[in-house]
Amino acid sequence: MKILAIVGSPRLKGNTNYLVDQALEEASKLAVDTEKIALSQYEVNPCLGHDDCASFESCLQKDDASWIFDRFREADGVILATPVYYYNVSAQMKAFIDRNYFLYMHDQKYKLRAVGIIVVADEIGIEDTLHTLKQFINELDAKEDRIFVVSGYATKLGDAKKNLPLMEEARNLGRQMAESLKEGT
Ligand SMILES: Cc1cc2nc3c(=O)[nH]c(=O)nc-3n(C[C@H](O)[C@H](O)[C@H](O)COP(=O)(O)O)c2cc1C
Repeated sequence: MKILAIVGSPRLKGNTNYLVDQALEEASKLAVDTEKIALSQYEVNPCLGHDDCASFESCLQKDDASWIFDRFREADGVILATPVYYYNVSAQMKAFIDRNYFLYMHDQKYKLRAVGIIVVADEIGIEDTLHTLKQFINELDAKEDRIFVVSGYATKLGDAKKNLPLMEEARNLGRQMAESLKEGT
């Protein structure tokens, strides 16, 4: 049983990564395997928008997206985590979401039984960012009661670590996701 986290922040020691680490640590205590993919460490180029995916066997963009999507499809649960950048997901996360279009056009199914969302902002834009991620998740067929959301405020490096309630919410998210995966077995 595995939870995969996809992280859209380029700050590897930043707030989003910190909260994701908390969630994964908690999930692993319940004997769930975990993996984190920080998108900034890979090449995930933007969608080319030719809108003809269905006629190709593989995406025309030759980069790391396809193996990330392989892992995504194999996971039992996923966490999508991003900082708010200009009132929405980071560019890294948006590119990842858009590239999912190829799988959508090929009717490729997911086996996700739990989904987590983690969003961090300095001040403004959390609602719009959550809306974007929830719309994306809708297409993954995840059940409503298996979607776990954490959002909160942090700015500088290390802020999330000092925000104890937010940290606890992230840990809870990891625990709840792991428990819900175990319930379903
Ligand atoms: C390019 C950029 C755009 C940002 N836009 C917003 C924004 O629209 N609203 C906001 O509240 N914070 C904004 N922020 C602040 C980040 O969301 C905030 O610092 C967050 O804690 C960063 O998370 P990280 O440490 O995981 O990278 C922006 C930061 C950057 C670098």
